[in-house]
Amino acid sequence: MAEGIIAYGLQGVIVDETRICQIFGDQGKLYYYGYNILDLAENCTYEEVVYLLLKGKLPNKAELEQVTADLKAARGLPESVLSTIKSSPKGSIPMDVLRTAASAVSLTDPKPDDNSAEGQYQKAIRLTALFPEIVAADYRVRRGEQPVKSNPKLGHAANFLWLLHGKEPGADAARTMDVALVLHAEHSFNASTFTARVIAATLSDMYSAITGAIGALKGPLHGGANEGVIKTLLEIGEPGKVKGYLDEKFKDKNFRLMGFGHRVYKTVDPRAIVLKKYSEKTGKERGTTKWYDMSTQIETQMKGREKPLYPNVDFYSASTYYMMDLPPEIYTPIFAVSRVVGWCAHVIEQQAHNKLIRPDAKYIGELDKPFAPLAKR
Ligand SMILES: CC(C)(COP(=O)(O)OP(=O)(O)OC[C@H]1O[C@@H](n2cnc3c(N)ncnc32)[C@H](O)[C@@H]1OP(=O)(O)O)[C@@H](O)C(=O)NCCC(=O)NCCS
Repeated sequence: MAEGIIAYGLQGVIVDETRICQIFGDQGKLYYYGYNILDLAENCTYEEVVYLLLKGKLPNKAELEQVTADLKAARGLPESVLSTIKSSPKGSIPMDVLRTAASAVSLTDPKPDDNSAEGQYQKAIRLTALFPEIVAADYRVRRGEQPVKSNPKLGHAANFLWLLHGKEPGADAARTMDVALVLHAEHSFNASTFTARVIAATLSDMYSAITGAIGALKGPLHGGANEGVIKTLLEIGEPGKVKGYLDEKFKDKNFRLMGFGHRVYKTVDPRAIVLKKYSEKTGKERGTTKWYDMSTQIETQMKGREKPLYPNVDFYSASTYYMMDLPPEIYTPIFAVSRVVGWCAHVIEQQAHNKLIRPDAKYIGELDKPFAPLAKR
């Protein structure tokens, strides 16, 4: 980059090479390790995507059985992590509890700094297996319920719903969650993944990288947007009020509609296309498409604006989750339950070809100020 040119927010800056993910923002295309996200969402389970992201190829039957068994074997929250969750002050934000619990997991790993290939794989599997248990335990504890133990009969997505609701989900709900997890698992050098890579590039450990990534994901401009979407839908209340609501809100030129716009996509996010179908399907199964209808109306309004804006992944996930009886405060944690494996894949890739990440900044302060001793200031 020529001296003097500042890429605010690193927009458009290529900071490294990666084989994990490619996004074509103008075309609305997303690939994990060369596979189109639409094919993966249609055909794969989350466990297959876990293997793909950690090993760089889709698993065959035996490999899928192995990674599924590895994930199941890694289940079971350590008692100290469970008590960290239980002792969180009432009213704590679920993402803060997840961040603290993820960090606490590292204290129960006898070799937290083992950055060997096998050590990294084991840590990635462990974190991926434990995230649903952390999120669900916190969800139940804050509702005054006892956490339930994982169900060995169930795969990752179905088990997550089991952990949340304490009953086996139907096949449709389990598949909807599975697809949502597939869609959120990876997204190139987004803010939380880049955070993980920055931490990994210091040769720190995977737990530290993932803990930092959770902090980045929490922000409303990143993973926190899905909670904002459902709050907007609830605030609008009914389909007939969409236009008036948006007209009123956009009188403030600083207004940001959650679930719209993206740094990379300049058209509709392909993940939103898939989730839109699930939003409608889940609504129909539950006997009301009200939230889906409101969402499509908002999408139409936003497309018709002078500067059109398109839905991102957070937009239709909100109405889908709402129809699955999932409360807004766990939408961002659900994102993390999926994305954790993408973060781990990037930590592994970063450390395999490492270069410390340390950009420059243009100094705009004063220099050579006269120094005054304390008594004279
Ligand atoms: C994701 C996001 C942070 C990307 O931001 P960015 O790449 O830095 O783009 P900018 O913030 O510079 O936005 C570009 C323009 O579009 C507008 N814009 C972008 N997203 C908008 C939104 N959701 N609502 C209203 N206006 C929006 C900005 O106001 C800006 O307009 P201007 O050129 O007239 O100043 C931004 O689109 C946003 O805040 N979206 C809402 C939060 C969200 O859904 N996040 C989840 C992302 S997956």
